[in-house]
Amino acid sequence: MQAIDPRTLVEPDRVHRLAYTSEEIFEREIEQIFEKIWIYCGHESQVRKPGDYHTLTIGRQPMIMVRGRDNKVRVLYNRCPHRGVQLCGNTRGNVGGNFVCSYHAWSFHLDGQLESMPLMKGYEGTRLTRDNPDCHMKAAARVDSYRGFVFASLAPTGPTLAEFLGDAKVAFDDMCDRSPEGEVEVVPVCHRVVQHSNWKFFMENQMDALHPSVTHQSTGVAATRVEKKIAAASGHAPLYYHYLSAFATPFDKWDGVQTVNYPRGHGILKAYMGLRPQDPDTKAYEKLMVKAYGHDKTEEFLSRSIHHVLIYPYLSVQSPLQQLRCLRPISPSETLSEIWHFRLKGAPEAIYRRSLWYYNLVNSPATMVNADDLENWSKGQWGLQSRGGDWVSFHREFGRDTTENGTTYSNKGTSEAVMRSQFKAWLDYMTEGA
Ligand code: FES
Ligand SMILES: [Fe+2]
Repeated sequence: MQAIDPRTLVEPDRVHRLAYTSEEIFEREIEQIFEKIWIYCGHESQVRKPGDYHTLTIGRQPMIMVRGRDNKVRVLYNRCPHRGVQLCGNTRGNVGGNFVCSYHAWSFHLDGQLESMPLMKGYEGTRLTRDNPDCHMKAAARVDSYRGFVFASLAPTGPTLAEFLGDAKVAFDDMCDRSPEGEVEVVPVCHRVVQHSNWKFFMENQMDALHPSVTHQSTGVAATRVEKKIAAASGHAPLYYHYLSAFATPFDKWDGVQTVNYPRGHGILKAYMGLRPQDPDTKAYEKLMVKAYGHDKTEEFLSRSIHHVLIYPYLSVQSPLQQLRCLRPISPSETLSEIWHFRLKGAPEAIYRRSLWYYNLVNSPATMVNADDLENWSKGQWGLQSRGGDWVSFHREFGRDTTENGTTYSNKGTSEAVMRSQFKAWLDYMTEGA
């Protein structure tokens, strides 16, 4: 059978269903995209002390993010050089002073260098010597971090992390700048959800401003009713009702929410929720911010218009609520999502609690929001696996966006500029070097 040419799948205003369903295309995505580009590994605060580790997957590769004795954070392959056994079996923990393999006790320093092996004499005269790189744990080709967020790339060459992030680095600036100390720390547990759909559904959906008032209508309308009732009875309803009632925003209002579509598929959905209520908690927090940064900087930091920032093709950072969703694709029709949240260092507990409300309302097993999205994406995957049609339409507002210096600004919030921009980036990756 002839290999699928990705160029036959992407047209400026529509995309072939095989981009979402083909095993062959998925394998190429792993190779050409996920095992090459900068992938988010975790936050430095997940590995505070030497020996602390966190395991993750980059493409198909099992990796360990670990803090060394020299305090440096490294990313190593989770594989013993002896016979291949994974060295860390848990998602996180502390290995102590070194990694010890559970099979034959080869041990490794925290930087991956071989420490010792039992019965070393047995190797005398063989080509397995200490100076052989095959004796040591292999490291990711490149590791870098930005404001405490650690990334690794398995490719020795390519754009730097700063080049890869480009303008989308505002995701981390916006999150950290909201802390009076300029830093965040991870809450060390996350929601893990396996989506029964291709990873692209999630990435498109994050910036799909048309879907909330349809998909989340029942939630938005019910929350609006209760919010009004509480406000009438007590003068004001807690902010978390607004998180849900905002989904009931009518179509024409969504059209007023702009999307910014950067090169490499990254983008921003601008803000649509009011997150600066004048309640005592917010006032106390803003006072701390003004003390730390002065009035002008505080205004600059708290008034950026961001709902969330997408770092294509796998990260969605909701900086105003300190939340980050990271995709780890498993197959064309299965995607693991990890949803993390963060504390603003030096901010009052109440500010953390209100982001925790959002985190759980939107992502927890009891959510009334993500559950409806997940159902759409599964049904989308089933539809695209059918022979009921070959093309996915991205025609909405086609030709009516504004592009300046490689960045496309939608003139209508519901423009499918987002998907068009993502697929442009996708095709660049998939045909790189071809
Ligand atoms: S497989 Fe690790 S020591 Fe043998
Ligand atoms: Fe949604």
